[in-house]
Amino acid sequence: MAHDILFTPLRLGAIELPHRVIMAPLTRMRSGVGGTPTPLNVEYYAQRATAGLIFTEDTTISRQAQGYPSVPGIFTPTQILGWRAVTDAVHADGGRIVMQIAHNGRNSHSSFMPDGELPIAPSAIPPTGQAHKPNFEPVDYETPRALETKELPEIVVAFREAALNAMDAGFDGVSVQGGNGQLLEQFLEDGTNRRTDAYGGGIENRARLLLDVVDAVSGAIGAERLGVRLSPYGQFGGISDSDPLSLFTYVITELSKRRIAYLHLIEALGSEIGLSDDLHVGAVNNATLFRSFFDGPLISAAAYTPESAAATIEAGHADAIAFGRLFIANPDLPERIQRNAPLNSPNRATFYGGGAEGYTDYPSLP
Ligand SMILES: Cc1cc2nc3c(=O)[nH]c(=O)nc-3n(C[C@H](O)[C@H](O)[C@H](O)COP(=O)(O)O)c2cc1C
Repeated sequence: MAHDILFTPLRLGAIELPHRVIMAPLTRMRSGVGGTPTPLNVEYYAQRATAGLIFTEDTTISRQAQGYPSVPGIFTPTQILGWRAVTDAVHADGGRIVMQIAHNGRNSHSSFMPDGELPIAPSAIPPTGQAHKPNFEPVDYETPRALETKELPEIVVAFREAALNAMDAGFDGVSVQGGNGQLLEQFLEDGTNRRTDAYGGGIENRARLLLDVVDAVSGAIGAERLGVRLSPYGQFGGISDSDPLSLFTYVITELSKRRIAYLHLIEALGSEIGLSDDLHVGAVNNATLFRSFFDGPLISAAAYTPESAAATIEAGHADAIAFGRLFIANPDLPERIQRNAPLNSPNRATFYGGGAEGYTDYPSLP
């Protein structure tokens, strides 16, 4: 099948894309000491510079925001310098790269926290599944500490500072992680948010922290360089909401008013972090469900093939498609799609942690 529609240009706010095959954010747990990108990370991103746009892996906005071993941050001068080498290499190869900034909230462990304190969350409800300590050892999740209201402005400031640091490091823009069961989504959904202050209760209150963050980042770097990732109907870490349709309709309508550069929706059909190839058959289609509430470019992700990606854009359900696992295995994914060349298969065993194997050694076309 022809995929011509994938290879038409697209504008996301201030960012011009030559085509619509985007690299999704992918945590790979291979950062250097102190959450600083290494030359290996530079090589990995530079190999993928032909993507219409690269999203970085989730990058933590503070020490408290960390939830996994060997992930990068964007809150120290050394981290900024490390990322500068990444953006320089991607730009030198003609690419574009946006940093996804994130706070894991309860999806963490006290071994990552300053002073070994408990991880934080809107309410003291632990996630399902297991955490991994800094040495990758699996461990049961702890019950997080509920944030005090007076602490919330510090979180907003940390997102704002992280966004400014990302721009200092040479990124083309910033994406706020509002999905995948992380802190901002923990505030959005009533399965994780039982607060009784202005940040809990009704939908407007639960959406307040995300929208405060968006307003603060937008004020710092400009809405035309800011996007948001959401995962309506996602289930990561056991997250849930009693009325996702009303919740996300409100959130997406509010984001639309703020004229951000794009909205990035993860489809509930796929696994949020690619833990399995199983599809959530019967899942609602977020792109079609929420498209009419966002007046701007929509990126859709999860479980796409080149064929379904082209068909989705053709049908007007999204403007661009972000590929995760296919970009892990195919550094030259756009060229392979365009030439109808065979695709390499990703090796799940090397997704997280390790070195060059399964990271920078997938072959490009000759
Ligand atoms: C190894 C791995 C790491 C991921 N890390 C992130 C991440 O840091 N942030 C995020 O928003 N999504 C993350 N995801 C989800 C992907 O961005 C994407 O939505 C998901 O893999 C579904 O797309 P796919 O079917 O094309 O792989 C990850 C997925 C995988 C497989």
